[in-house]
Amino acid sequence: MATVDTHLAVTSRRDERHYAHRPLPAGLVERILDAGRLAGSARNRQPWRFLVADTPALRDALAETVYAPENVRTAALVVSIAVAGKGPTAFDAGRAAQNMLLVAWNEGVVSTPNGLADPERAARLLRLAGEEKLAIVLSFGFPARARDPQSRSPEEWSARAGRRPLAEVVERL
Ligand SMILES: Cc1cc2nc3c(=O)[nH]c(=O)nc-3n(C[C@H](O)[C@H](O)[C@H](O)COP(=O)(O)O)c2cc1C
Repeated sequence: MATVDTHLAVTSRRDERHYAHRPLPAGLVERILDAGRLAGSARNRQPWRFLVADTPALRDALAETVYAPENVRTAALVVSIAVAGKGPTAFDAGRAAQNMLLVAWNEGVVSTPNGLADPERAARLLRLAGEEKLAIVLSFGFPARARDPQSRSPEEWSARAGRRPLAEVVERL
């Protein structure tokens, strides 16, 4: 599969929740996880662990702890990011997550973050240590309906993204 230019990858990527019933090759899973490992973090503390829910039993139980269980139940790869320690750990986890989401999309894999409806139960299922907190659960898979990033220009993807306009977001001081 052809890879995507970074600007096109950022502009064309949307969070997707409908996955094909097809496993991801092991090498691709490793590239996604390694992208998370490579994220920068405050003082390079790397305050994270990436917990991959490999067994169907764990996947199904974890699905019951997020707001949209189908996202997790039907995904080909489910990665939970746990963080611990001092510093801006939520920001650090966000950087690791976005690295994984973008490297996945680079190879045609779609994904979405999943907020936690029951974080305590999820923490027990994933056997988090006392000081660890679950930042997010990411679900990945090949798309149920393929979408070709090359079918539009970055400007077209940007215009269709459903985001607040730049003029409303950016303030020059
Ligand atoms: C912290 C966080 C939690 C999210 N939780 C959920 C969720 O529980 N279920 C879900 O389907 N999407 C979830 N999302 C995805 C958002 O709905 C999505 O980022 C937003 O709608 C933009 O989607 P788009 O890029 O497809 O336009 C979450 C996103 C973030 C950043």
